[in-house]
Amino acid sequence: MRMYDLISDTVTKPTPAMRKAMAQAEVGDDVYFEDPTVNRLEAMAAELLGKEKALFVTSGSMGNLIPLYLQAGRGSEVLAHSDSHIIQHEVGAVAAIAGTTPIGIPAPRGLLSAELIEPHIKPPIYYLAKSSLIEVENTIGGICYPLENLKGIRELADRHGMKVHMDGARLWNAVVATKVDAATLAAQADTVTFCLSKGLGAPVGSMLCGTKDFIANARAIRKMLGGGMRQAGILAAAGIHALEHHVTRLADDHAHARRIAETLHATGWAHVDVEDVETNILFFSVDSCSAQKIEEVFGSHGIRCSGEGTQVRMVTNLDLHEEDIEQVCAIIRSIDPKEFHR
Ligand SMILES: Cc1ncc(COP(=O)(O)O)c(C=O)c1O
Repeated sequence: MRMYDLISDTVTKPTPAMRKAMAQAEVGDDVYFEDPTVNRLEAMAAELLGKEKALFVTSGSMGNLIPLYLQAGRGSEVLAHSDSHIIQHEVGAVAAIAGTTPIGIPAPRGLLSAELIEPHIKPPIYYLAKSSLIEVENTIGGICYPLENLKGIRELADRHGMKVHMDGARLWNAVVATKVDAATLAAQADTVTFCLSKGLGAPVGSMLCGTKDFIANARAIRKMLGGGMRQAGILAAAGIHALEHHVTRLADDHAHARRIAETLHATGWAHVDVEDVETNILFFSVDSCSAQKIEEVFGSHGIRCSGEGTQVRMVTNLDLHEEDIEQVCAIIRSIDPKEFHR
């Protein structure tokens, strides 16, 4: 039985064209700034985001950890959505390594605003932790930040002398879905991380973007964390290929996620807010059924998805084509809802 993998957009394999670009990459020792392909990728990322410099890092987690370390640090607080990746899914590195206290702020649909954040900013009294950094995740749960929220958060941070970091693991999904260009989104944050290894389909790596001085410091912290890579041009070539060829096609992933959500909605037994499917991620539930049981039933029909509590997540990706999505929808239509309660 074929397994349709909707567990994440991180499961994609490099395409033949990407592998060819990787095989042909010119390389050098990047710790000595001598890898021309890494240098090219970094220049490209900085230009796309309208930032002075960029740094190729091993992962989205490292791309978030470095700004937390440098822009918040010991005795400080970082304010982020309570479901944000830095708080929930990065092994507590925010506290364990960056030494900053995470303040989780709940917000509908994951979207913070200046109004929701401001009450959590501490006054500048020496015995209180310093509110140093605001972190926003765009997209969050597949939802795109409205530009007005980001502008309000930027203005709030400036008013309080705080920095803003954007975890843009799926920034390009937001760019494609909202048609707001990457530089405009990035201008609302001091530092931005975006991943090459998610919807863009590269096997490894993320880009951390910011000022020239910030990136110089970030390079040192990357080395401290063991993230100084040598002939990394092989990986950077995949990133360049992804940025050149896999951005506009994200619209297909978004349409596919919508189609699956509509199919689930039409079954009558699955609960999904179709309007909330803005990009490549959708969530659904089934009455009185745990996410684990739903995963099990879908798995037995050849659809791999993941869940927590009662919510199951599906993520469309580069390796799932039109005909695969049709197949996934046909499987969903064929599921007997009694299976969830056996
Ligand atoms: C929103 C978000 N931020 C950061 C990351 C971390 O990326 P990585 O797995 O490359 O460390 C992920 C990974 O899934 C993510 O979804």
